[in-house]
Amino acid sequence: MSIKPEYLKLFVKATEMAAYGASKFIGKNDKIAADQAAVDFMRTEFNKIDMEGKVVIGEGEMDEAPMLFIGEKVGTNKGQKLDLAVDPLEGTNFVAKNLPNSFSVLAAAEENKIFFAPDTYMEKIAIGPNLPKNLVDLDNSVEKNISLLAEAKKTSPDKLTVCILDRPRHHKIISALKNMNVNLKLISDGDVSGIIYIVNRNSPVDMYMGIGGGPEGVLAAAALSCYGGQIQTRLVLDTDEAGRAKKMGITDLKRKYNIDDMIKGDVMFCATAITNGDLANGIKDHKDYFETSTIALHKDGKINTLYKNKHKK
Ligand code: FBP
Repeated sequence: MSIKPEYLKLFVKATEMAAYGASKFIGKNDKIAADQAAVDFMRTEFNKIDMEGKVVIGEGEMDEAPMLFIGEKVGTNKGQKLDLAVDPLEGTNFVAKNLPNSFSVLAAAEENKIFFAPDTYMEKIAIGPNLPKNLVDLDNSVEKNISLLAEAKKTSPDKLTVCILDRPRHHKIISALKNMNVNLKLISDGDVSGIIYIVNRNSPVDMYMGIGGGPEGVLAAAALSCYGGQIQTRLVLDTDEAGRAKKMGITDLKRKYNIDDMIKGDVMFCATAITNGDLANGIKDHKDYFETSTIALHKDGKINTLYKNKHKK
C-alpha cells in the first residue's frame, strides 16, 4: 500500500512551520533555542494531522529529548499508520551563525519500513540514479570507488566532484581524492543536503562519502530513494552505542545497509529551507506573511517538486 497522496501537503506544512519557527533564531548564535523552536512548531503541526504517526528517527531517546523523541506518538490517532523520521533543524550551526543551507526535514513511510537507526555516527557512500546497482562499496578503496564511478559515467576522475564533511576524520579520504585530482565540495555541516546535491540538476556533485550522523543518513536515503539514487551505510559504534544498538534489535553491528534495507516501500520526503541555500530559498519573513520553499518528494506518486508557498502570520 502507498502513502495516501494527501499527506504530502500536510507534511510540507510541518516542515514549513518548523522552518519558520527556527528562522526566528537566524543569526542569534543560539542553536539550542533554534532547534527547540523547530521541534515545537513541527510537533504542533503533526498533531493536527489525521494519522497514527510514530517518530522512529527523532530528537533522541525519551529521557533525553522532551519532544519528538524516538517512539513518540503524533497525529490525531485517526488515519494511516505512518512512521516518521524527523530532523526539525538540520544545520543548527547554520541557523545560529546565519549561514546558508539549513533545512527542516522529515521523511514518512508506512509502519516498520524505515531503518530504525540509533543516534550514532554512520559511514556513508552515495551516488545518483541511472548507475549499475551496488556500483560502489564502503569496503572498496577510495581509488576503486572513484574509478568505478568514472568508468560508469564514461568520464575521468578529474571531471568528478565528491562532497564530504570537512572534518579531521576525513583527512585520509580527502588526500586520496586530491591525489586522483577529483574535485571536492567540502561542507562544514549538513550532510542531508550534501547528499541531495548528487541528484540536484544544478549541482555538479557526483558522489557523497564519509562519516556523518546516522539519523541524517536515513533521511538522505529517503530522499535518494525517491530519485532512484543509491546509498550504502554502516553504523559507527563505540562500546556504549553498540549496547544501545543491540537493544534496538540490531544484531549484526558491522552490517552494510543498502538503500532498500533502509527505506522499504513508499516514502515521502520534505525539506524546507530556513536560510538561503544552493537547493532552495530560505524563509522570507514579511510583515503579515512569510514565504517558504520546500523540496517535496513522493516516491509512489512520482512527485519531485520545489514547492513554494505563502502563509499568513
Ligand atoms: P545538527 O544540525 O544536529 O547540528 O547536525 C549537523 C551535521 O552537520 C549533520 O548534517 C551531520 O550528519 C553531523 O552534523 C556531523 O556531525 P559532526 O559535526 O559531529 O561531524
